[in-house]
Amino acid sequence: MKDRTYIKDLRDHVDAQVTLFGWVSKARATGKVSFITLRDGSGLCQCVLEKNDVTAAFYDEAKKCPQEAAIRIRGTIFAEDRAVGGVEMRDVTEFSVVGNSGEYPITPKPHGTDFLMKNRHLWFRSQRPWIVLRIRATIVDAIRSFFNDRDFILIDTPIFAPAAGEGAQNLFEVDYFDEKVYLAQTGQLYVEAACMAHDKVYCFGPTFRAEKSKTRRHLTEFWMVEPEIAFADLDDVIELAEDFVCAIVRRVLKDHRADLETLGRSIDVLENAVKPFNRITHAEAAEILRGPKATELLQTDLTTKTARVEEIKAALSETEAKLSGGGLKAWQQDKLTAEVNNLREEMGELEVEIENIPHHIELARNFDDGGDLGGSNETIISRLYDTPTFVTHYPRDCKAFYMKQNADDPTRVNNVDLLASEGFGEIIGGSQREENYDVLLKRINEEGLSQSDYEWYLDLRRYGSVPHGGFGLGLERTVAWICGLKHIRETSAYPRMMGKIYP
Ligand code: 4AD
Repeated sequence: MKDRTYIKDLRDHVDAQVTLFGWVSKARATGKVSFITLRDGSGLCQCVLEKNDVTAAFYDEAKKCPQEAAIRIRGTIFAEDRAVGGVEMRDVTEFSVVGNSGEYPITPKPHGTDFLMKNRHLWFRSQRPWIVLRIRATIVDAIRSFFNDRDFILIDTPIFAPAAGEGAQNLFEVDYFDEKVYLAQTGQLYVEAACMAHDKVYCFGPTFRAEKSKTRRHLTEFWMVEPEIAFADLDDVIELAEDFVCAIVRRVLKDHRADLETLGRSIDVLENAVKPFNRITHAEAAEILRGPKATELLQTDLTTKTARVEEIKAALSETEAKLSGGGLKAWQQDKLTAEVNNLREEMGELEVEIENIPHHIELARNFDDGGDLGGSNETIISRLYDTPTFVTHYPRDCKAFYMKQNADDPTRVNNVDLLASEGFGEIIGGSQREENYDVLLKRINEEGLSQSDYEWYLDLRRYGSVPHGGFGLGLERTVAWICGLKHIRETSAYPRMMGKIYP
């Protein structure tokens, strides 16, 4: 549109006439004034149409405008400290409806998350998801800039993969012209090959895992960025991961401080994500899990959550009594019904958590030295520290075949997971890779993998093999941590999880 101005630029147009195109986010009218909050993708702007002056001709039309109608409006921009963005439009000289709207399903009153997820294609017009998706876009840009600025070469790895990259569980099978292939779980094996050509490489794209669990951390389709560096050991991988996460957090704090505040995200927690991050070994993590601090943490949770359920029950009976008492106006009834729905949703979530806590206490108390850290264990560890925590040197038997066997303790591998703070759990998994041909082949056989599938990968150990390593950072889990979102589904425009494929 030739004469279009964007709301984000309005401060440069104070006292000038501009034309805005956008959607009606909110509209209300008093006897003489109609207020429209316009949303144009770049921001929000209040437009004021008064009945008795130059805007009179449009007052009635604007008054009828439903939520989400698309409009074109021309008027003058005035500085107004009390308005969002510090400006508002008045003295409207042109107004037209570009696309009318029916009864929009997402109203300003609160809705349950299930309803909102079903309407995801509309929901992301609302403020919170709008902010989250913009922060995600900034994180993607920060990721690309970090590696491009450090001379990493981008390698696009295939999505159709002939064999497993991360173990045979969780594979999505695809019929590839009568051949059985899989959707990629990782691009790692391919970037390993590419780093022998370019020294420093990364891939960044969608990966797929047939996760049958409906947890708040698992998607079936998620984006992973995977750098790989040659002539590198585990310490080099950890240093890269630390610099990388710090750079992402710094960028979001620089570009989105106000957005984070709107989301209610604690800025202090993100400001704590500075070098050096906490580092513990898997053996130390095992001690912590079996020790008193972990049990105390969960016992306290149990007490707090049980008390909250009692509070909710009391609030529910009070609100329900008001509702059944009658005599309420329609808007009051809507408001109370929404409150009841929200309380019920919160109570449902708490009841599940309360039921799980004893099990999580048992899992932590009986944590086996040879075990992988499960989700609840990761949550405990990451809640005990203010900064993100690196956990290194896991038992070889619970980790992938390609990880470098530790020189001092061959039952362990040189790997690392990064647990985000505040119970957000693992956002990075990485390792030094096994560069020794014989050791790697033995691991492939031990895992029951077919050697022929990995001949090309073994070639890397036949021709100029060097110590090398890298990691994968899950984009959605990182967005969830940085935005402080309870559930990973809100980090993706169209999340894919077990039981969720629409819209
Ligand atoms: O620890 P993972 O499985 O590591 C790999 O795939 C390695 N090949 C990476 C490498 O070394 N190049 O996964 C890496 C990260 C996890 O830390 C997590 O952030 C994310 O990918 N992730 C998931 N995110 C959402 N939903 C899932 N189902 C995920 N599984 C892993």
